[in-house]
Amino acid sequence: MSLRTRLALIFALGSGALVTVAGLAFVWQLHTSLSAALDSELRVRATALAAQLATGSLPTFPPASSNQAGGHAGQSPAAEQISQVLRPGRGPLYSSGLEGAAPLLSPAQLRRAATGPLTVTTVIHGERLRLLASEVRFRRQPAITVVAVPTDVADTALARARLALVIAAPLAVLTAGLGGWLLTGAALHPVARMRRRLEEITARDTGARLPVPGTGDEIAALAVTMNGLLDRLQQALARQRAFTADAGHELRTPLTALKAELELAARPGRSRDALAAAVGAAASDTDRLIRLAEDLLLLAGTDEGTASLVRERTDISSELHAAARRFATAAAGREVAISVQANGPLPVSADPGRMRQVLDNLLGNALRHAPPGSTVEMTGRPAPAVRPGGGQRRVVAVEVRDHGPGFPPDFLPQAFGRFQRADRARSRADGGTGLGLAIVASIVRAHGGTAIAGNDPGGGARIRIELPLDSGQ
Ligand SMILES: Nc1ncnc2c1ncn2[C@@H]1O[C@H](COP(=O)(O)OP(=O)(O)O)[C@@H](O)[C@H]1O
Ligand SMILES: [Mg+2]
Repeated sequence: MSLRTRLALIFALGSGALVTVAGLAFVWQLHTSLSAALDSELRVRATALAAQLATGSLPTFPPASSNQAGGHAGQSPAAEQISQVLRPGRGPLYSSGLEGAAPLLSPAQLRRAATGPLTVTTVIHGERLRLLASEVRFRRQPAITVVAVPTDVADTALARARLALVIAAPLAVLTAGLGGWLLTGAALHPVARMRRRLEEITARDTGARLPVPGTGDEIAALAVTMNGLLDRLQQALARQRAFTADAGHELRTPLTALKAELELAARPGRSRDALAAAVGAAASDTDRLIRLAEDLLLLAGTDEGTASLVRERTDISSELHAAARRFATAAAGREVAISVQANGPLPVSADPGRMRQVLDNLLGNALRHAPPGSTVEMTGRPAPAVRPGGGQRRVVAVEVRDHGPGFPPDFLPQAFGRFQRADRARSRADGGTGLGLAIVASIVRAHGGTAIAGNDPGGGARIRIELPLDSGQ
């Protein structure tokens, strides 16, 4: 069932129930107050009748005394008002306002009236009457006075009220249902428009946005939120596409070289040495492909947060010394010295394998750019830092600095971007893919840290990474 139908139904049923309950309460209230009015009139008349009876000013029959002739029934001053005086077990003592003198009460009702005032509604000669019977004493004998009023006026008023209710309730249901239907239709109209627009937006048409109604209401807010979502999706899609294109490019270069080497090796009449050289070149291209594939996998994993970090308490101080040892031979080959300044333990909660990869990437870059005879300096120390959400926290700051040319200043903003290289040709010749710093940033971010690339005022590149200090709690 659509939201619109549901709301219209709720409106209809709700107002139907409301009108019915209010109407019934009104009819009940009307009924009680009309009865109360009749009853109070009856009580006044019953008192008057009892007084008349007591003073003997009532033409009773059979004659109360021998000198009073009977046959005065219906001749009393209040002839139009129905009243009787009855005696249990005997004929009426007095009757007015009625043709004939049939008692208004049955013997059973008479007996009940003898125990206390009795109010009943009966039909006499086709007319509904409300009766009040009360016990009085007449010449030391018990007698019952009965006064009656027709209920026709009250009955008509009640019948009108009921009729009004019977007509009003369905009308209210219909009006509320229709009103609800029209109102929700109008309210949901922009939603329907937004849905149609969303259906039109495809993966190609990523620039499309939803129309934002100028109403400033919840639906406008929803449209704004949806447009924000579309923006982010579009950016993510663009990044993904660029990444795929770049990855394809990067894969193509070593694959083309590999193919050329294999074709060369397959030529007839190749010497054994030439073959060995071709296979060696092919193997190094394959190595590069494997490294590239591994880098891509790692980046994809950290992007989606699926790269499982096996975190443990890791001492960055000893990791820095270990990295220096790993690169000792390579550094010696380039006549570059590596110095490490990290005294005392620097504990962080990190995946040691990933930390090694970060340090290797940074040290590899520094060595590649450091001129012979220079020193690559690695430092590690605890430092205060501003928390991402505000406030202070303790971090371990690691810096890797070389004395090479440094980053070209205009390259700095994208230094951590994927496949970004300041000197593409040279870097590729060195076996670089432009993913090293991107991986550094990605791993550091996954550990809740930050990475900054810059140049030292004294010359040379300086990369600083900060990782939350593991205080051991
Ligand atoms: N220590 C450094 N000195 C100068 N430039 C650097 C240094 N480290 C990195 N770069 C520049 O940043 C680029 C990106 O580095 P990186 O992501 O490690 O990719 P790759 O090393 O594969 O080229 C490099 O191509 C280089 O131009
Ligand atoms: Mg690198």
